Amino acid sequence: MKGLILAGGRGTRLRPLTHTHAKQLIPVGNKPILFYGLEALAEAGIREVGIIVGDTQKEIEAAVGDGRSWGIKVTYIKQDEPLGLAHAVKVAQPFLKDSPFVLYLGDNLLLNGIKPFVEAFRSGKPQALILLTPVNNPSLFGVAEIREDGKVVNLEEKPCDPKSNLALVGVYIFQEDIFLAIEGLKPSWRGEYEITHAIQRLLDQGKTVLPFTVSGWWKDTGRPEDLLEANTIILDQIKGDVKGEIVESSVQGRVVVEKGAKITESTVRGPAVIGSGVFIKGSFIGPYTSLACGVRIINTEIAGSIVMADSCLQDVQPRIEDSIIGQNALVNTISTLPRSLKLTLGDHCQVELQKVDYY
Ligand code: TTP
Repeated sequence: MKGLILAGGRGTRLRPLTHTHAKQLIPVGNKPILFYGLEALAEAGIREVGIIVGDTQKEIEAAVGDGRSWGIKVTYIKQDEPLGLAHAVKVAQPFLKDSPFVLYLGDNLLLNGIKPFVEAFRSGKPQALILLTPVNNPSLFGVAEIREDGKVVNLEEKPCDPKSNLALVGVYIFQEDIFLAIEGLKPSWRGEYEITHAIQRLLDQGKTVLPFTVSGWWKDTGRPEDLLEANTIILDQIKGDVKGEIVESSVQGRVVVEKGAKITESTVRGPAVIGSGVFIKGSFIGPYTSLACGVRIINTEIAGSIVMADSCLQDVQPRIEDSIIGQNALVNTISTLPRSLKLTLGDHCQVELQKVDYY
């Protein structure tokens, strides 16, 4: 069995972060999202993995290399335009040939890996295996309608009037029949060649599509709030490990402090991860915070947030919460007049200021 990870796409919902970086490389718990997928495929015994790449090909190649860190062999497959998941699968046909394969969306996170699904596919030998999970807002997802006998009868992409609350999780397993089902597909209303339409064709042809309900959590990290939630879930599972330098500080709960980090005159309350080269002084780092390498936090309180490499937060008030800060960003307070906010923001940035009542 081969693996196919989709790491192209536009990532419009995650702008401005995706103006400069691949969305699949955004760190969650200080590790790029894509790496969780690579680990899951390797753990399921898959050794040959194709990665679909788009405009961010160079960055993805630099991060993943030839795959040997995971004990896999990676082949990069260029998709010239992000025309949809079914299009990406079609582009990968010369790599996949007649092998069954796991299709894994590179911005998805799945607890407990994919081993049980691969085993169910091997024993059931369906033409396709789809993963499902109940969600509160099915209109945002591909949705499956299941008959009482457990058979899939219908799939719809982001329906206005969903037939069930069972969303398609971003991991599928296919036999080569899927290529024929993709042939001649028409783009959907959003202009994409949809994999749900190709699976619907398999159903219409009477092929077996096996549903498998995911028991652990699953997260599609398409939107900023999803990234923060994924960060919370990942940090909930970490074990504390302090290798950095702690000076006149209190480190409470499960906290990872990597070698080369320095925490001085501060309190860190886990779960949290503090990357190498991070410098913290006179600050409070609250639960569910990930600070990537080289970050500086001085006289500032922060919780429930992701701060990417080499950014600096200094003398910031009030406490920063539920925030995502990209690489090399600077937030600080100055005391010179006039009293005003000075902003240098990139396109599609979002700043939420606290309302202050003046008396
Ligand atoms: P999506 O989240 O559906 O699309 P997107 O990444 O373009 O994001 P947005 O909707 O915010 O613009 O994609 C799911 C995954 O599949 C993601 O890792 C990107 C990847 N992908 C491709 O590789 N090729 C494609 O043609 C598409 C649409 C997505």
